[in-house]
Amino acid sequence: MTDISANTVFHEQINQILTLPSPLQKLEDEVFNKREIQIFVKRDDLIHPEISGNKWRKLKYNLLEAQKQGIGQIVTFGGAYSNHIYATAAAGKYFSFETVGIIRGDELNENSSETLHFASQCGMKLHFVTRTEYREMRELPDSNWITQSFKNARIIPEGGTTSLSLGGVGEMVDEIVQQLGQAPDYILCPVGTAGTISGIIAHSSPKTKVIGVCVLKNGTYLLNEIETLLENASMVNVGSVQNTTNTNFEILWNEHHGGYAKKTPELLDFVSKFNAEHDFDIEPIYSGKLFFAFYKHFLDNIKPNSKVVLVHTGGLRP
Ligand SMILES: Cc1ncc(COP(=O)(O)O)c(C=O)c1O
Repeated sequence: MTDISANTVFHEQINQILTLPSPLQKLEDEVFNKREIQIFVKRDDLIHPEISGNKWRKLKYNLLEAQKQGIGQIVTFGGAYSNHIYATAAAGKYFSFETVGIIRGDELNENSSETLHFASQCGMKLHFVTRTEYREMRELPDSNWITQSFKNARIIPEGGTTSLSLGGVGEMVDEIVQQLGQAPDYILCPVGTAGTISGIIAHSSPKTKVIGVCVLKNGTYLLNEIETLLENASMVNVGSVQNTTNTNFEILWNEHHGGYAKKTPELLDFVSKFNAEHDFDIEPIYSGKLFFAFYKHFLDNIKPNSKVVLVHTGGLRP
């Protein structure tokens, strides 16, 4: 068992830099009143403009563990538009870690994405590899090349999901319960690598049904990922007490609108209407698909008096 919760200096830094707990905002809509249900949005997008949403939640205990072991370098993976690369580079800047991003694709140049320019400005060293090399490294993050080149680094996989990530996500669930004064009936979140939903499952009361909206096509392999993450998380002691055998969850597999980062006109229309009518924004890749699925396919099945929380996992850039 690893216990890495007690690093007071790091916790002080966290409190200075980040907005925690993130707000739990009530979503107002006549439809909800008619159905006598209460809908809330967990505004993790407000944690920090550059390390927002589930990115912070998933990084927290990975960074704490690195710091505890005296490791000053973080190596991670992503594409040219990756939210995880963006947030890890920013976290490195704020929490004084050297960061290295292994990037799928071309060299940094004036045509590179805003994500890569930002990461580089934060001090992240970018290492570009071909798609084939990237796939090999992603499948074998402990491959010789990586471990030989970065001997004293902490290696965090694509998307930032490790068994330590679940503890940070669990703290979001604890905040919800505290803010609501009770465990909600449902928590809904988008699913990409399944780290976020695994943390929610492990830290939710069995009374809470956890619903994931898978943002990619053919994502059912993620059920194995969830099982493995929950199994591994039972070996580490971070965040609050977890129930890694909780099975009260369901994933909606057909709400991806064509696949990862694909957008139907219906989805884009929904997102722009939602953004025009509310005081916060969603984006079409994660939160848009979550809110769309909620309104179009989930709302009808909610029993009166239910309390439902949708997690805004960030993804909007400053
Ligand atoms: C903004 C945003 N929301 C949701 C997700 C999906 O979370 P997870 O990969 O933990 O399933 C991601 C990707 O990590 C993301 O960048």
